[in-house]
Amino acid sequence: MKKLDLKLSSKSSDYQILIGKNLLADKEHLSSVINGKQVFIVSNDTVAPLYLSELKSSLEAFECHVFLLDDGEQHKSFENYHNILNAMLEAGLRRNATLIALGGGVVGDMAGFAAATYQRGIPFIQIPTTLLSQVDSSVGGKTAVNHPLGKNMIGAFHQPCRVITDIKTLETLPDREFKAGLAEIVKAALLYDAGFFEWLEEHASQILSHHENTLIAMIERSCAIKAEIVELDEKEQGVRAWLNLGHTFGHAIERCLGYGELLHGEAVAIGMVMAAEFAELAGLLPKESMNRIKSLITRLDLPSTVEGYEKRLTHKDLVAAMALDKKNVDADLTLILPKSIGEVTIKHSVKSQDVEQYLKRNLESLVA
Ligand SMILES: NC(=O)c1ccc[n+]([C@@H]2O[C@H](COP(=O)([O-])OP(=O)(O)OC[C@H]3O[C@@H](n4cnc5c(N)ncnc54)[C@H](O)[C@@H]3O)[C@@H](O)[C@H]2O)c1
Repeated sequence: MKKLDLKLSSKSSDYQILIGKNLLADKEHLSSVINGKQVFIVSNDTVAPLYLSELKSSLEAFECHVFLLDDGEQHKSFENYHNILNAMLEAGLRRNATLIALGGGVVGDMAGFAAATYQRGIPFIQIPTTLLSQVDSSVGGKTAVNHPLGKNMIGAFHQPCRVITDIKTLETLPDREFKAGLAEIVKAALLYDAGFFEWLEEHASQILSHHENTLIAMIERSCAIKAEIVELDEKEQGVRAWLNLGHTFGHAIERCLGYGELLHGEAVAIGMVMAAEFAELAGLLPKESMNRIKSLITRLDLPSTVEGYEKRLTHKDLVAAMALDKKNVDADLTLILPKSIGEVTIKHSVKSQDVEQYLKRNLESLVA
């Protein structure tokens, strides 16, 4: 098992990320961070049948309540957030109760937001069960629900008291979801760690065949990168924005196609390639680096273009959707762009016409 200690500026919010196999069956990892007698598990109707009974066996010593969400991003809603809080109140949860999120990023984000706000904040443990949530959403304390006018628009920063990543859960994860998680890992390497990027290039086939030690090493390094960035910038005032590499393009694609068409990670993979191509055109990124980025994404069996969707997208709609991005400070766009493998820059005041022109050519090349 690997242990990562996450140290944040407010000492009280330091916590550990445990990564290994069969950790769900280990009572000690849970009970050592639970203070009160009550636990409240939030999961969904896909993950619960697979892992809830094992988790509950490890929590025998506690008064255990369970709330199950319907599966899907569309259920990451204010209504369900309200339903979770109702159930917590009805269960008579006290302030020293611990909330446990068992599931992917949707469950983690919603449960985290409920934990952040119930009686002004109660402790919570993340047990992420998708690769994306293991390397990304469970690290860093961002919690949220969606609003009809925008994804993750209502939320709070609330750090978990522990993250328990059991790679056994990846055995039941659909292959497409697994690969979508790889996109966030490529992102972490690309923005911060050239050596890790090279490691991913070398280990692509072991990763795709789920070689256990390779997975543990990969998840550990990705979490460490995210943790380092979060430690530098817990409240997302500066360098934490690097983590949005590929997301401005990616979110715009998701929004224009309608959420749920592409997986978030798939949109981020395409978004990263778009950011790399745009950076190369702007003279920021060497062509050879751009080719390595595209090639790694392809080798990990992720999409690198919107091929197949090009007729449903227009450059104007995409730029309009990019303009809604939270990072923008004025009418122009703010983009996170790669400068080399392992290094990014935040570019403010990028002219939307330049992005529009790039996207127009990109879409036309697919139609041709
Ligand atoms: N808080 C953050 O910092 C942060 C960062 C990135 C993404 N997110 C959020 O995370 C969400 C996406 O997370 P996700 O990709 O994990 O999606 P998800 O939670 O919807 O999970 C994907 C699918 O896999 C299923 N699943 C989960 N674990 C499984 C398992 N072990 N076996 C079989 N099926 C399993 C889920 O039920 C779901 O159908 C988005 O809402 C996004 O906004 C948050």
